[in-house]
Amino acid sequence: MDNFTFYAPTYFAFGKDTEQDTGKYVRRFGGSKVLVHFGGGSVIRSGLLDRVKKSLEAQGLAYVELGGVKPNPRSGLVYEGIELCRREGVDFVLAVGGGSTIDSAKAIAAGVVYDGDFWDFYQGKPVDNALPIGTVLTIAAAGSEGSPDSVITYEDGMYKRGASGEGLRPKFTILNPALTQTLPPYQTACGITDIMAHLYERYLTNTADVECTDRVIEALMLTMINEAPKVMADPNDYQARANILWAGMMAHNNCCGVGRTQDWASHDIEHELSAIYDCAHGAGLAVVMPAVFTYNMHHNVMRFAQAAVRVWGCEMDFEHPERTAKAGIDALRRFLVSIGMPVNFAQLGAKEEDIERMAQCACYGDARQGTIGGFVPLSKKDVENIYRLML
Ligand code: NZQ
Ligand code: ZN
Repeated sequence: MDNFTFYAPTYFAFGKDTEQDTGKYVRRFGGSKVLVHFGGGSVIRSGLLDRVKKSLEAQGLAYVELGGVKPNPRSGLVYEGIELCRREGVDFVLAVGGGSTIDSAKAIAAGVVYDGDFWDFYQGKPVDNALPIGTVLTIAAAGSEGSPDSVITYEDGMYKRGASGEGLRPKFTILNPALTQTLPPYQTACGITDIMAHLYERYLTNTADVECTDRVIEALMLTMINEAPKVMADPNDYQARANILWAGMMAHNNCCGVGRTQDWASHDIEHELSAIYDCAHGAGLAVVMPAVFTYNMHHNVMRFAQAAVRVWGCEMDFEHPERTAKAGIDALRRFLVSIGMPVNFAQLGAKEEDIERMAQCACYGDARQGTIGGFVPLSKKDVENIYRLML
């Protein structure tokens, strides 16, 4: 295990009706004038936004609202939010919604206190300072509610890039599993896929002797495999929703990724797809992951074989461990299909003629240095080959 530091000071309130305390937490973490940021309307339709605003009012907190965050959130609304916060003297940013809303809120919170262009952070500048951020989460997926990360698409060039830094960790996050019961099956499945991807990105490591974090990742994957069919069969299954919600947070606040190298090739390759075709991030990952894993399998067959045996229940073939490794990747693909995820380019609306452009952008676009992936460094040619496996 490598040396590491880990500081994840987000305060979590988990369970039924916890959103009623939003105002109380905003006060506790120093807010007095709040930007309430939300997406395309699900929180209006469910009545959540009204409940959150009431809880702010009950604490005597002033607020301004900015809705309209799109999935795969864009830079335009971030600039608008920064302007609004400065004009209104906002000192706390509250995201009510999914990962896209949280990421947009994080970008605004970082941008408000920064003299330069907020996009500098998405080109590699760490985010040390930001306005305090709180979240009320409505989908188990991106893990942004506990992560120090934000992903935004820059509209001039459609670059989808991530920023990171301790300033972006939410001060508090409210997790009420009941709020996720209104999710359509497709979005539920996209979230499940994203959570599995966050676990695989960390599992695919070149660091030896990471038994503790390996076992935590495997436990979280097994949880997802057990709970996913329950929520797909019954969207109102509160306990299954609860287990998935907490697994999603743990999958991405990095408690299971410390002390080891990580991969993130699947995410970088997927982000080109969701930037260009505006597909759901999870759906893109369902197509990307099996292709990346098949391409990279021979770099460390035993790592894939270990996942196959411990997570997917495959039998170890000691003579031909590559068969076991492949059986694990096939089991992942079958699982993704069983929850209704796409398996190929056509189902995402992606086109073969864009492959070269996406590979170029993934490896060289907007300050990238030529290779991606921490498990196997992938060149532009490799990335093109991987996209071709998805046809
Ligand atoms: O916009 P509204 O109307 O709220 O609808 C959303 C949206 O259409 C809907 N939704 C959310 N909660 C709902 C609901 N509909 C009904 N009932 C509910 N309870 O679901 C759709 C998807 O929402 P979105 O916020 O886009 O989902 P997700 O949480 O998957 O976020 C995806 C974004 O996060 C980024 C992805 O790249 C993508 O842009 N990521 C962020 C990360 C991070 N910050 O740490 C890491 C991830 O790997 C990921 O890259
Ligand atoms: Zn993700």
